[in-house]
Amino acid sequence: MLTIHDLDVDGCNEIFDRAKSLKELLYRGEVHESLRGKTLGMLFDKSSTRTRLSFEAGIHQLGGTGIFLSRRDIQLGRGETVADTARIMSRYIDGMMIRTFEQGLIEEFAKYATIPVINGLTDLLHPCQVLSDLFTIIEKKGGYEGLKIAYIGDGNNMTNSWINAAARLPFHLALACPEGYDPDESILERGIRESKEGIELLRIPADAASGADVIYTDVWVSMGQEDEQEEREAAFREYQVDEKLVGCAKDDAIIMHCLPAHRGEEIAASVIDGPKSVIIDQAENRLHVQKAIMEILMVGGNRR
Ligand code: CP
Ligand code: NVA
Repeated sequence: MLTIHDLDVDGCNEIFDRAKSLKELLYRGEVHESLRGKTLGMLFDKSSTRTRLSFEAGIHQLGGTGIFLSRRDIQLGRGETVADTARIMSRYIDGMMIRTFEQGLIEEFAKYATIPVINGLTDLLHPCQVLSDLFTIIEKKGGYEGLKIAYIGDGNNMTNSWINAAARLPFHLALACPEGYDPDESILERGIRESKEGIELLRIPADAASGADVIYTDVWVSMGQEDEQEEREAAFREYQVDEKLVGCAKDDAIIMHCLPAHRGEEIAASVIDGPKSVIIDQAENRLHVQKAIMEILMVGGNRR
């Protein structure tokens, strides 16, 4: 589970359907321990609240165990190779979730691992977040088919994963990014080529938000870009999701943000805390979708 682009429509829908069932089971208070005896390793090279907790609480609810690993504490941080780490970890645990900088590290780990590997965010992609967001959109809007999703802001890991989703699923994606902050060029080109409902890269936020069913934004300064705070604040000044921008969307549009958010930067406090915002349900759904992904990948065991 390194990128949404590796999934097809059925693969995505299987995750959404399973997440719905697992959420219902949890809400009914039923114990469902499909991953009893299984262990998920979780390597974090960057901070996390939602990803860590949703995977760790999620595997616990499914009867398994999560082990938090930081690079500082394992030999990878002292120069042990990714290949050795992946081969050895595969003998101990049943799945590995990695949050790191380079997409290449996850891909290399997956090349040598014989267990499922899950991308918990890289500089390039954040697939678990977008899958979970689509699940929220299905809950709130009854489906994603034919919707217009507007993404306003930085062409970052979130944007790239949204493009990959739009390449696979039939919704229209309108991006508004300032010049110099476009999404990954090859991901965008491929997305435009493969998308059924179209992907457009615009410069004016109101053009992207016009008639949208969903307005989505993310931080201007992602993890690892802290040195660029000032220049980014200047570049993105016209890209705040505020009441005026929300007024361009459909009356029943929902406002989404992967979080953490910076009120007064990428989104006005009145919008993120307003009636159209679904951010708390959106964050909750990380739990249900992470559980679905782990169950689909780890039930039955993949250890060779
Ligand atoms: N949205 C998200 O991935 O949050 P965390 O960085 O807290 O995991
Ligand atoms: N683009 C943000 C997403 C955080 C979930 C980051 O990479 O920091």
